[in-house]
Amino acid sequence: MCEKCKGNYYITTPIYYPSANLHIGHAYCTVATDAMARYKRLQGYNVKFLTGTDEHGQKIEDKAKEAGVTPQQFVDNIVLGEKGVLDLWKLMNISYDRFIRTTDDYHVAAIQKIFKRMYENGDIYKGTYSGKYCKPCESFWTESQLVDGKCPDCGREVQDAQEEAYFFKLSKYADRIQDLLENTDFLEPRSRVHEMVNNFIKPGLEDLCVSRTSFTWGVPVDFDPGHVVYVWIDALFNYMTALGFENKKYSDLNDFWPADVHFVGKEIVRFHSIIWPAMLMSLDLPLPKKVYGHGWLNFNGEKMSKSRGNVVDPYILSEKFGVDALRFFLLRTFPFGSDGNFTNELLMATINTDLANTLGNLVSRTVAMNQKYFDGTLEEGGEAAELDSDLRVLAADVCAKYEAQMDRFQFSVALNEVFRLLDRANKYIDETTPWILAKSEDTKPRLLTVMKNLCECIRIAAILITPFMPETSEKIFAVLNVPADRQVWDAQAYCADVVWNTVVGAPLFPRLDVEKELKELEKLSKPKSTIEIEPYSEEKVDFDTFCKSDFRAVKVKDCCNVKKSDKLLQFTLDDGTGTDRQILSGIARFYKPEELIGKTLVAITNLPPRKMMGRESCGMLLSAVHTEKGEEKLNLIMLDDAIPAGAKLC
Ligand code: MSP
Repeated sequence: MCEKCKGNYYITTPIYYPSANLHIGHAYCTVATDAMARYKRLQGYNVKFLTGTDEHGQKIEDKAKEAGVTPQQFVDNIVLGEKGVLDLWKLMNISYDRFIRTTDDYHVAAIQKIFKRMYENGDIYKGTYSGKYCKPCESFWTESQLVDGKCPDCGREVQDAQEEAYFFKLSKYADRIQDLLENTDFLEPRSRVHEMVNNFIKPGLEDLCVSRTSFTWGVPVDFDPGHVVYVWIDALFNYMTALGFENKKYSDLNDFWPADVHFVGKEIVRFHSIIWPAMLMSLDLPLPKKVYGHGWLNFNGEKMSKSRGNVVDPYILSEKFGVDALRFFLLRTFPFGSDGNFTNELLMATINTDLANTLGNLVSRTVAMNQKYFDGTLEEGGEAAELDSDLRVLAADVCAKYEAQMDRFQFSVALNEVFRLLDRANKYIDETTPWILAKSEDTKPRLLTVMKNLCECIRIAAILITPFMPETSEKIFAVLNVPADRQVWDAQAYCADVVWNTVVGAPLFPRLDVEKELKELEKLSKPKSTIEIEPYSEEKVDFDTFCKSDFRAVKVKDCCNVKKSDKLLQFTLDDGTGTDRQILSGIARFYKPEELIGKTLVAITNLPPRKMMGRESCGMLLSAVHTEKGEEKLNLIMLDDAIPAGAKLC
């Protein structure tokens, strides 16, 4: 730790599943963590802010297969690719100090050692798992934990699962965990403690299944090939491997462990407040000082989900309104421990009210008046009045309350404090009426002091908003020309009687035309189709020519691949005439022959016979073709099997 530092501070976000693009809900937690990290740095702490990605598990393996790439390629693309996780954090101005990927070699090797240590100390043992598995959540559940027979976390169907597996003796730690939750401030907000104790601990903590054999995309158990480590063990220990636990890549463990706080979403509090401390207890390691379970952001009253098409794209929103406005909105509007309802209307209303009217106006009016009445330079001297002490007293009170609220992670309340100061400063303009003071030389000294008081209130507010809107506070310091040593946390003391040299800058937050913006957003948010269809033909066919084509229902009696051809399938078809018809079709890429036997298809039967690979083809089978995500797709037209062979299609 450096000598001047107030101490070390270690804060983490959950590491994200790179299974789909991140939405504003994911950004919420990371922005909050970033604000906290910046606040602690501002106060003079030596901060380590960790974030990263949780890249193993069956869900990733399945998605990679679907996309036709390896799991590593799949996660690399979402983490490193264009508009991937790293790009998004850059855009959102996330000042993380370390980024861990659970596929990093040092982490994988460390997890193997950790698993072995728990096996060797007897807390991990081999058994057979049979129970219910929720694939999307990668969670095993007991019958009693299911809600209406479905996964208690996501409400989706669960499957019966049975496999040889390793178990962690979670039950052994039940009493210690209950004590930790009930009798310390380990888990906050307090409401989450009751939830954990009543829903999970009191019904009886069962041992936890901690290995899988049904898929391979995970950290292999090195002493038992075929088993991979349960993704939550792999994921939770990231908080320590990223500091150098069981690896030589880093050496920050002594300085930063135990963590000061893990910020996590409410649905993963169970993992962080029960399983995580139990595993640390098993290894006799210090527990993190705190886990804070924040609420969820819904969108227009519904859970954000890709399938519902209501995910809010942080790229679109930050491009439109600016990153600072978005960061501010998230933390100003929703109390951190509770759920919130994100709407675009609310976002714009907050920008207009707080940022354009209150903050932006105060800054632009102040610097404009400085310019107009003093050419931007506020010299020494002036004339104080009793009213000024209101501002001084309020500023000190605001700073103290802001600090207390930030230390409790109550970002929205801390920001209320800042706006108390800004509102008061705006009111001070109305009370002191600088435009009237400017009319006479006699009142110019009073005007000078009024303007200095306004500059000082803005300066203090700019310090306090730094963690939330780092770019905006920089812009404010620039227009007020605040020297570096008065931009810092320790320069909160109110001191209006200094010389100011201010310059007029661009408006910080132009007022938004809500109706217009909403329309534009609606257009931009419409998901672009990934499906492409062939352009329609311009050329017309006359009716008689069309009627000459003989379309018939045909039944597949046999189907096989054609030797030396990757493309062709050879069909033997019942066309209702009593004589088999042979058709060759270039669709081997899309179907296996055995899938098609017995199906009723559509053939155009009066085309002249053609030779393909030395075999005769008498007609053509009809299919529907399109392109999806750049890939060609083909579906044979299949008819109801009740339609007899030879039926004419017209
Ligand atoms: N990989 C695990 C975390 C492992 S930590 C050792 C995971 N990843 S996640 O990508 O699914 O979620 C990451 C975080 O985003 C979680 O804290 C989750 O609560 C948060 N959010 C996801 N959607 C959210 C909202 N709509 N609103 C607020 N937070 C939400 O869980």
